[in-house]
Amino acid sequence: MKAVVLDKTGKTNVLKISDVDKPKINDNQVLVKVKYSGLNYADLLSRQGLYSWSPKRPYIMGLEVVGEIIEIGKSVNDRSIGDRVLVGTQTGGYAEYIKTDSVYALPIPDSYSFEEAVSFGVVWFTAWVGLYEMARVRKGEILLVHAAAGGVGSGAVKLGLALGMKVYGTASTDEKRQVIRKMGAIPLKYDDFDQELSKLGVKPDCIIETIGGDVYRRGFDALAPMGRIVLIGASGIQVNKWNPISLYRAWRDIPRTKMSRVLRRSRAFMGLHIGYMLDEPDRLIPSWQKMLDIMIENDLRPVFREEQIYPLSRVSEAHQFMHDRKNIGKIILDPSL
Ligand SMILES: NC(=O)c1ccc[n+]([C@@H]2O[C@H](COP(=O)([O-])OP(=O)(O)OC[C@H]3O[C@@H](n4cnc5c(N)ncnc54)[C@H](OP(=O)(O)O)[C@@H]3O)[C@@H](O)[C@H]2O)c1
Repeated sequence: MKAVVLDKTGKTNVLKISDVDKPKINDNQVLVKVKYSGLNYADLLSRQGLYSWSPKRPYIMGLEVVGEIIEIGKSVNDRSIGDRVLVGTQTGGYAEYIKTDSVYALPIPDSYSFEEAVSFGVVWFTAWVGLYEMARVRKGEILLVHAAAGGVGSGAVKLGLALGMKVYGTASTDEKRQVIRKMGAIPLKYDDFDQELSKLGVKPDCIIETIGGDVYRRGFDALAPMGRIVLIGASGIQVNKWNPISLYRAWRDIPRTKMSRVLRRSRAFMGLHIGYMLDEPDRLIPSWQKMLDIMIENDLRPVFREEQIYPLSRVSEAHQFMHDRKNIGKIILDPSL
């Protein structure tokens, strides 16, 4: 089968299609024919050798797929051939087929297409766990979402609104800020989001933090008493492992805080990584189901654009597109092309 095997790290030109054996399942697993793979920001880090959750090289890249079950192991009795499923995984997503323990092959509700399911999968669930399970947000609270036109960001905006929050979102371009407005949130610029919030007399109760550096610091200072900042990523930090100045800047810009600062204003600093939690299916799956219930109840649809569906053979361009901050919502890879 075709797959993108990462055998050396680097720029987008290290991404190549290889021919590898089709996976063989054990008794507890299912084999999924992949319809689409989702591209996550973490894949850019993984390609550069900067992602702590990556397995040892060489490995097949890709953290999530949607597709159809075409084979089931002897002991699997809760899934059937033909089921449409979404799979979250540490490796194996950029491929034509993937095997997984059946518990991680999550049925896709009938009302969502494959394109929609791969567009909400990992990113919306990350936003959901941050908002609902960790920050425990409530109706009427104020939410600030950074990179709010991106995958996690647009999920956080739509879920936050559905939970009854008033939502503000930052983005780098006018086009992205229009998308934020269209979703029902109030768009802001990175440069002065804290000043704008202050002019409006608004203090966020929750911040979904994915940028780092000065954006993180100004956000933390703007938090309301009893506010919660959920650290999910730090896309604003670009690292060149061979350049000491870049390494210093990365160290400087990684969000951190002192307990005394948290204590003095009664705020919470939280960290979330969905990947490291995959071995906790008993915690994750009920929460996933709760998110789907809210989505279905509110007819929430993820943000994706037809032109952001790339053939797997053009995976390098897809990575470059995300690196250049051009994506709005999800980038999707089609392994049949
Ligand atoms: N912890 C977890 O479990 C988990 C799970 C999923 C994702 N994440 C993290 O959540 C964040 C969003 O992930 P995503 O897959 O949904 O990506 P995304 O938001 O669709 O794309 C990344 C966005 O980050 C913003 N950005 C700011 N500075 C940037 C820079 N210097 N270079 C590139 N982009 C920059 C850009 O939006 P603007 O142009 O509007 O600034 C860009 O579109 C990432 O930090 C990712 O690592 C974490």
